[in-house]
Amino acid sequence: MGESGAVPHVLIFPFPAQGHINSMLKLAELFVSLTNFHVTFLNSEHNHKRLGLRADSLLERVHFEAITDGLPECHPRSADRIMDLFDSLKARTKPIFREMLREKAKRGEPPVTCVIGDAILSFILEIGEEVGVPVIAFRTVSACSLWAYFSIPWLIDARVLPIPEGADMDQTVTCVPGMEGLLRLRDLPSFCRERDISNPGLQLVQNETRHTVKARTLILNTFEALEGQTLNQIRKHCKTVRAIGPLHALLRAQGPKAPPLFPSMSLWLEDRSCLTWLDSQAPGSVLYVSFGSYTVISRRQLTEFCYGIVNSGKPFLWVIRPDLLDGEEAVLPEELALQAEAQGRFVKWAPQEEVLHHPAVVGFLTHSGWNSTLESLEAGVPMLCWSFFADQQVNSRFVEGVWGVGLDMKDVCDRVVVEHKVRELVENEGPRRAARAMAERVRESVNPGGSSFMEFEELIDDIRSMRACTL
Ligand code: UDX
Repeated sequence: MGESGAVPHVLIFPFPAQGHINSMLKLAELFVSLTNFHVTFLNSEHNHKRLGLRADSLLERVHFEAITDGLPECHPRSADRIMDLFDSLKARTKPIFREMLREKAKRGEPPVTCVIGDAILSFILEIGEEVGVPVIAFRTVSACSLWAYFSIPWLIDARVLPIPEGADMDQTVTCVPGMEGLLRLRDLPSFCRERDISNPGLQLVQNETRHTVKARTLILNTFEALEGQTLNQIRKHCKTVRAIGPLHALLRAQGPKAPPLFPSMSLWLEDRSCLTWLDSQAPGSVLYVSFGSYTVISRRQLTEFCYGIVNSGKPFLWVIRPDLLDGEEAVLPEELALQAEAQGRFVKWAPQEEVLHHPAVVGFLTHSGWNSTLESLEAGVPMLCWSFFADQQVNSRFVEGVWGVGLDMKDVCDRVVVEHKVRELVENEGPRRAARAMAERVRESVNPGGSSFMEFEELIDDIRSMRACTL
């Protein structure tokens, strides 16, 4: 049995994907700016290389390390192959992590006293228990989508799932407590559309979510004023839930105390020239378009979106990741391409937080990933939502139906609808006013005395009181 020294050492272990890295890295930055904690951040070797980090890099007091994800280098690690990544993390990474944690809890410099593990990887909790290191679970999705995941067994019992062939997808669902009458079948997490309830994706989110609530503490990147009611539902099943988000806003609120941001932790190279282009645009005129890090669309969908946006007449800044199209080249009909080039700007990857804060940006066509949603809420930019998978279907429903800060266009990709919705988003004062009011709620939550600020302080106290008791 060994005991740690006085200064806490937190090891942060995200699922190896951009959205997860971003939010967990904000947490690392907060620890560095507000505490004397030692912080180790564990990336997959694949991402460590893509980020251009040197082995054992030390940036702003965060120690970066890498662990294998168990997949060969040539594996695409894309949304349609995501189960390979989960399987290999469990089979190959888990035993290596066990040994790594044993070693770091005994002989780390200083020894690791607490792990903050991505709760979509419940093996981190399991190993913490085995090794005797307390684990705090961090689930990077919204409370509303986590609660929908948690409710899947009830949906199965109530025979809502599997969704029968030909079902009316606008039918409302009554067995998600606290969301009765709000969620339609189409708003359930994408995995719920599987015809077979033994589908590995559906099984995985159910199992990992049930493990999540067993954690001694669950961190969520959200805030009371946004998701208080849903947080209370989750609290009925969980020991301690700490809503400490939006983390990027909490970090921003630290002002000069916060360290300069890390050099970008983007897995793609940021094209900062788009900020100069935005400078040349009229205030409140540009539609920002991005579908996050995992979404894949077809060439037909690209064309429909492009016609819709071009026909709306609005200038746009559009992120087309090199792997946005599934095996197809992002080629547009010639005439459309010419019109689009004249009206907007395409980039492969943008500095999104800065873009959303740019005065030229008036709206965000988004896939409703949770980080993108929080970044838009914080910047007070209304959203047009076209969700792709997982939690995004639930988030987009809440954006329109509960928070009123945008429009939900899920499951429709038609040029006429896109044009109409873009106009509705940017020309109507309603969503813009609601988005500005929500940005104010965000600030209140992260400023001293706000709910997220206080919860974060309590989290720090929790971590200070933790001691590893290694076996
Ligand atoms: C997905 C899920 O939808 C998300 O809810 C879950 O928590 C993680 O996996 P992803 O597709 O990565 O996420 O979307 P999102 O959560 O929005 O994260 C994307 C991140 O990449 C955001 O922080 C965004 O700022 C950043 N980004 C995106 C850029 O920095 N530049 C870009 O051009 C596009």
